[in-house]
Amino acid sequence: MAKIYTHDLEGNPVGLIDLSLEVEEGQIFGLVGPNGSGKTTTLKLFLGLIFPTSGSGEVFGYPLGSPVYKERIGFVPEGPYFYDHLNAVELLRFYGSLFGLTGPSFQDRIEHLLRLVGMWDRRDRKVADYSRGMLQRIALAQGLINDPDIVFMDEPTAGLDPIGAIQIREVIRQIRNEGKTVFLCSHLLKEMEPLCDTVAILNHGVVCRTGTMRELLADEDSCYLATFRGLSESSLQQLQSLAVSVEQQQEDTYIGNFRDQNSAVAAAQALATGGVELLELHPHQLSLEEVFIEAVGGIPQ
Ligand SMILES: Nc1ncnc2c1ncn2[C@@H]1O[C@H](COP(=O)(O)OP(=O)(O)OP(=O)(O)O)[C@@H](O)[C@H]1O
Ligand SMILES: [Mg+2]
Repeated sequence: MAKIYTHDLEGNPVGLIDLSLEVEEGQIFGLVGPNGSGKTTTLKLFLGLIFPTSGSGEVFGYPLGSPVYKERIGFVPEGPYFYDHLNAVELLRFYGSLFGLTGPSFQDRIEHLLRLVGMWDRRDRKVADYSRGMLQRIALAQGLINDPDIVFMDEPTAGLDPIGAIQIREVIRQIRNEGKTVFLCSHLLKEMEPLCDTVAILNHGVVCRTGTMRELLADEDSCYLATFRGLSESSLQQLQSLAVSVEQQQEDTYIGNFRDQNSAVAAAQALATGGVELLELHPHQLSLEEVFIEAVGGIPQ
């Protein structure tokens, strides 16, 4: 489907030009792409806030925008804005009331969510006093108030310090482990890499690659990297003759790049007789950043 807002001066479409994706239930699905690539537009389409200009989509088998699925979804916006004078419990009570939630089981849900996001002990503090990380935790709790089957999140760790981001990622994993589907949008590739089960790469409004994280990061001409210590001048020469390439890591450690595991092990055995120590041996894995740069056709000069 597409959502074309307008055309630029050269007549090129602006917005989401070609979105084609399928999200499996119970997963953390990541939509990654640079600024302006169409991530928030995609979320707005799923939320039924805007409609495609061509094509169509479904959530739980219902057409985009159908009120039937809306009560089964949650949304965590980028840079959430809340009423400043409410505390955490009042805030969640307010959002729950929009879904008609009341009663003791609703109180229990508020407690469960505040514990899940690590805010139960700080539940009496007013939103006005929250740090950026605390606001983001409350935003997660707010997005889960109606016990949705899928929760959409726009840049959930943007603006957080490293510890805050790790904690939010941990909460996101817990949400997935509770059986929910999480749909994340982010341009922070390093954060998405350890978090997402499946990824779609969006660039200039077009999905240019999609697959499980494992598939995407698997290096087809996978080589093996072996780290050695204690090389003399002659054993370094020996390593250079056995490996495809050799790179110095620290003063006394070198990384040999081998075509496969067997040649790396054979080299390690040959070098061991000269007292060289094998510190580490592992297959080379691509990073999401490398996959992304390749998918978008390199870094513009
Ligand atoms: N309401 C609108 N009217 C016109 N153009 C829009 C509108 N909303 C978004 N766009 C354009 O559509 C494209 C996609 O925007 P979108 O906000 O979906 O990107 P994004 O991937 O979420 O970016 P960011 O990482 O900056 O949040 C951009 O070129 C943007 O300028
Ligand atoms: Mg956005």
